[in-house]
Amino acid sequence: MNFQAPKGVSEYIPPRSAIFEFVREQLSLPAKRAGYKYMELPVFEDTALFARGVGESTDIVTKEMYTFEDRGGRSITLRPEGTAGVMRAVIEHGLDRGQLPVKVLYSGAYFRAERPQKGRYRQFYQVGIEAIGLTDPLIDSEVIWLADQAFKNIGLKNYRLEITSLGDAKSRAAHREDLLKFYETLNLDEATAERAKLNPLRLFDDKRPEMIEKMEKAPVLLDYLSKESKEHFESVKEFLDQLGVTYAINPRLVRGFDYYTGTTFEFIHTGLGAQSAIGGGGRYDRLMSELGGQDLSGIGWGIGVDRTILAAEEEGVIPSDLGLPDLFIIPLNTKHEAMKIAKELRNAGHVVEIAFGERALKGAMKAADKSGAKHLIVLGDTEISTGLVDLKTMSTGDVKRVRISELHLALQ
Ligand code: HAM
Repeated sequence: MNFQAPKGVSEYIPPRSAIFEFVREQLSLPAKRAGYKYMELPVFEDTALFARGVGESTDIVTKEMYTFEDRGGRSITLRPEGTAGVMRAVIEHGLDRGQLPVKVLYSGAYFRAERPQKGRYRQFYQVGIEAIGLTDPLIDSEVIWLADQAFKNIGLKNYRLEITSLGDAKSRAAHREDLLKFYETLNLDEATAERAKLNPLRLFDDKRPEMIEKMEKAPVLLDYLSKESKEHFESVKEFLDQLGVTYAINPRLVRGFDYYTGTTFEFIHTGLGAQSAIGGGGRYDRLMSELGGQDLSGIGWGIGVDRTILAAEEEGVIPSDLGLPDLFIIPLNTKHEAMKIAKELRNAGHVVEIAFGERALKGAMKAADKSGAKHLIVLGDTEISTGLVDLKTMSTGDVKRVRISELHLALQ
């Protein structure tokens, strides 16, 4: 029997796994530098957390969750996203009782039973942040800037940022009234009408061409913002301008969660085809109180690691030497000395491989080539007795004689 990975999961094996590590690290770096603290959370939670947190009207909750009963008869769901779990942990551990905002960073695997295609997987990876406890528009702008900076860190250029505001409760109530009136004129089928009842904004997300056409005349929330929401959104934009973040306003932007309020945003890469959202997020005023915590607002984002990798590969910005050894040593009856040199260089931070086994020189050379090592030395008795080796740069074929004791300098 030949086993295969389950359908639609993304997995990374060498050499591409080096790109995965690189991208995940680069995406986290700006947030780490802004004081976000890492959080490692379970990949499964009570189903009710997501039903409550993500929202009953969403595709995620109605169609895409991996839900099962565990041996104790509890309903468990593999996390489809990170925010609800972060909120659960923040409330459970009382982080919201300390210094505000609570600023956390997380990364890991997420699960959605979607139809797999390029850039859309059933197990995929995200890096995410959440800043909880303050409504200052400067935080909205910083959070967005941290995502923008993460993409720039990797060298991405061909993406755009779309933002909008879903306003406060007052704004949404005014909009809702007109939107529901508008829906009465549309003659919606039963399922769609049902979805509109749960969350009227959901229909902006409907991808069916006839619905897209119908929704063209729908009133948009941005025209209904209360004075406070308008001022908040204006400040967010002003700060983004100051931070040098380019954005476009998209009043029809609807994200796949019911928890959003106020500022919401999405990053779209132009080279990825259908699955073009590389990251997205927004503010959520009610999530924490709905999950049993204090009445605190938060804002955050999730960036898709898999899609960022595809985008970076498409733009050709991945460094070509990721994960490659700095040095490959071929010992000729000098295994112990080779190991000693490798040990010292590794302790100094270099990646060093040794040709193992009793391979002939030719075979060992092939292994060195295959390893992608940047440099090569052949270590025989003469090299040991003189303390000098010929250091070959593999890309150019250049050879330089260096002292074994100074190899670490030559590898810089
Ligand atoms: P999301 O937009 O559902 O937001 O996911 C964030 C990113 O994860 C997407 O932009 C996309 O790049 C990636 N992604 C989502 N689904 C898949 C999939 N099936 N395959 C590959 N990549 C995927 C959230 O998850 C929110 N929790 C973000 C957030 C945090 N909002 C506030 N705080």
